[in-house]
Amino acid sequence: MAKSSTYTCTACGVTHKKWAGRCETCGEWNSITEEVALSAGPKGKTLGAAKGQRVELSSLSSQDAPLQRSLFGIDELDRVLGGGLVPASAILVGGDPGIGKSTLLLQAAGAFARQGKKVLYVSGEEAASQIRMRADRLNMTDAPVQLAAETNLRDILTTLDNERPDLVIIDSIQTMWADHVGSAPGSVSQVRAAAHELTSFAKRRGISVVLVGHVTKDGQIAGPRVIEHMVDTVLYFEGERGHQFRILRAVKNRFGPADEIGVFEMTSGGLQQVLNPSALFLSERDKPTSGSVVFAGIEGTRPVLVEIQALVAKSPLATPRRTVVGWDSGRLAMILAVLEARCGIGFGGMDVYLNIAGGIKISEPAADLAVAAALISALQDHALPADSVVFGEISLSGALRPISQPENRLKEAEKLGFASAYAPSRMKTIAKTGIDVHKVDDLAAFIENCFGQLDD
Ligand code: TYD
Ligand code: MG
Repeated sequence: MAKSSTYTCTACGVTHKKWAGRCETCGEWNSITEEVALSAGPKGKTLGAAKGQRVELSSLSSQDAPLQRSLFGIDELDRVLGGGLVPASAILVGGDPGIGKSTLLLQAAGAFARQGKKVLYVSGEEAASQIRMRADRLNMTDAPVQLAAETNLRDILTTLDNERPDLVIIDSIQTMWADHVGSAPGSVSQVRAAAHELTSFAKRRGISVVLVGHVTKDGQIAGPRVIEHMVDTVLYFEGERGHQFRILRAVKNRFGPADEIGVFEMTSGGLQQVLNPSALFLSERDKPTSGSVVFAGIEGTRPVLVEIQALVAKSPLATPRRTVVGWDSGRLAMILAVLEARCGIGFGGMDVYLNIAGGIKISEPAADLAVAAALISALQDHALPADSVVFGEISLSGALRPISQPENRLKEAEKLGFASAYAPSRMKTIAKTGIDVHKVDDLAAFIENCFGQLDD
């Protein structure tokens, strides 16, 4: 069987029929290498018998130049990315339709372009005139962003090859159409192929690429999940539609911490950064209210205070309602069970509603104690002091487990005018802050400390 080789340029990826010293397409010298297709091996022989290319090996101690990050100049975005944009990185921004992804990325593109970087914004959803209208509303028509309204991937890649921008934004990946794939735009194979082509092309050329992906509930078009593994960073833009707050959350980041959040507010002039989210999430609190407890949490690297609200009401239903917004419903069930089994506080026959104010989602187990406090406070109609914060993880035995970064939580609470805190006692010594810390061993001790003898 004849040996079938192809000659591929390592600089631009174009394949040639024969070897040459210089690639005709990109003009690079000595970049063409011979590649033997794996399938070219004689039939019946193992992979090892077919000739491949020798892979370059290196040691762990090899020295690389430090990453040169570029800042967008939007602090909340830069922090979520782990300190700015890494060159030649691929970022996926997912979120529900209408949540503000296009707005955020147009603003980011504008901020980046104003620093003299070359930015291309490719929209497959809106016409250039619509994007200009949005830019006008965002007061950024002067930013030198280049626009394209296009869905054909081949044309987009050719344009990128000619333009060589620092950053390209693809809005959205589900509208892109790769003509070598037979299925319709938005299908899994199209979305995968388009994301693969764009990310690998961008990596080869040192272009950073941001892909916008719609999250879909009905499954009609492929969600961003199918491409999460291909990109370096995955950000989700979340928020309640009726609320003006939006949270940008890093769920995967090869260049920084995951779980970092950036907080924005949607206004008539676009997204505004919220640099002190605690003040914003607590803004509607004035006097002590039963069922409302402030949790001192940590989101990523930053302490954030949030208000946890609970409502307990007699249920007309055979199976009472358990409604949770912003927290895990399985975790609520666990806390209700621990309260019943370990402390004798039952919620049978009662509807329980739990809400994290401000539209933020909390996933820290450290919120357990604050949730339990809100539930008991609502059940007993007994308010906790308005100037106290609560944190601690509850174990199934009813004991309180230590949690991370107590000092940062307390400092943030002090900054916002809180005077006391309830925290697990089994914690390493906490550095002194201006907050009066009540240390409690277990849930029963906490209840006695906060609510005294419970009436039945
Ligand atoms: P958009 O960025 O188009 O959402 P996505 O790209 O995630 O689908 O945001 C659309 C919503 O944002 C729309 O309902 C209007 C609102 N909006 C504002 O409130 N203020 C603004 O300045 C802009 C541009 C949009
Ligand atoms: Mg959009």
